[in-house]
Amino acid sequence: MPLPQPVLHPPFNIVRLSHVELAVTDLAKSRAFYVDILGLQVTDETSDTIYLRAMEERGHHCIVLKKAETAEARDLGFKVYSEDDLDRAAHFFKGRELPVEWIERPYQARTFRTRDPQGIPLEFYAQMERLPPIHQKYALYRGVKPLRIDHFNCFSPNVDEAVAFYNEIGFRVTEYTEDEETGRLWAAWTHRKGGVHDIAFTNGRGPRLHHTAFWVPTPLNIIDLLDLMATSGWVANIERGPGRHGISNAFFLYILDPDGHRIEIYCSDYQTVDPDLEPIKWDLKDPQRQTLWGAPAPKSWFEHGSPFADTPIIDSILKAQPIIAP
Ligand SMILES: [Fe+2]
Repeated sequence: MPLPQPVLHPPFNIVRLSHVELAVTDLAKSRAFYVDILGLQVTDETSDTIYLRAMEERGHHCIVLKKAETAEARDLGFKVYSEDDLDRAAHFFKGRELPVEWIERPYQARTFRTRDPQGIPLEFYAQMERLPPIHQKYALYRGVKPLRIDHFNCFSPNVDEAVAFYNEIGFRVTEYTEDEETGRLWAAWTHRKGGVHDIAFTNGRGPRLHHTAFWVPTPLNIIDLLDLMATSGWVANIERGPGRHGISNAFFLYILDPDGHRIEIYCSDYQTVDPDLEPIKWDLKDPQRQTLWGAPAPKSWFEHGSPFADTPIIDSILKAQPIIAP
């Protein structure tokens, strides 16, 4: 299917991705991973919840860790431009006969939950409690020095349909992978904020959360993180990389948290704000697509993901195979 034309004046204005809630089975272990190893800052903490932000963020949280019996991903949070946009968003989802439920979320003003047509749980809000800047409090920098949440990537059983929907609400495709045989999308990267993506979709059993990514200052921070993880009991949690992506041109590393939620450490992709930016097409069989230097991703990268809460998972329609490391 050809890519849809970008919608430059969408029905409501999403600013960017904002946060995600992850259900974790051992809060102390997760705290060690996210706070002591990655270096995220705790902004609130109770017996069953930890709120975290990265160094550049003024909003109260970008990750919420919730103690639970089973590990799973919960709502993907997006910030909209204004309260009017929030009402327009709710109206849009209702018009699509998608569930709209206004909910109470600590540190967030009016917030509603919904789901996209493939079932991914989403949360929209306009205002979150603002915190004082800490990006120049260098004494606080730890771990990989995470600056901000950068994107979500989700397994999708039908990437063409996912792109069609997100395109309609203003996400613009920057890069995509097509299966030459069927002409179907195998993956796509779509943005609101002017980077390569806020949310990407990868063909696979889903919907499931593939990973959440954090932007860091330089590739050297990623090397430092690897040295830290390798010598402090976390070597088995290193999954893929470091490397440079073909798609997005970003430097990357994939690691797994104690429950297997995948986190990408990511830096130096490029600006995409031009409304007429032409999407870049990749062939699924191009060995430089995943990693510019040619190294293929491991099998786990194409199979493992976090289920979303109360969300049925189905097989992908497209059966095309990517290049997988032996
Ligand atoms: Fe990513």
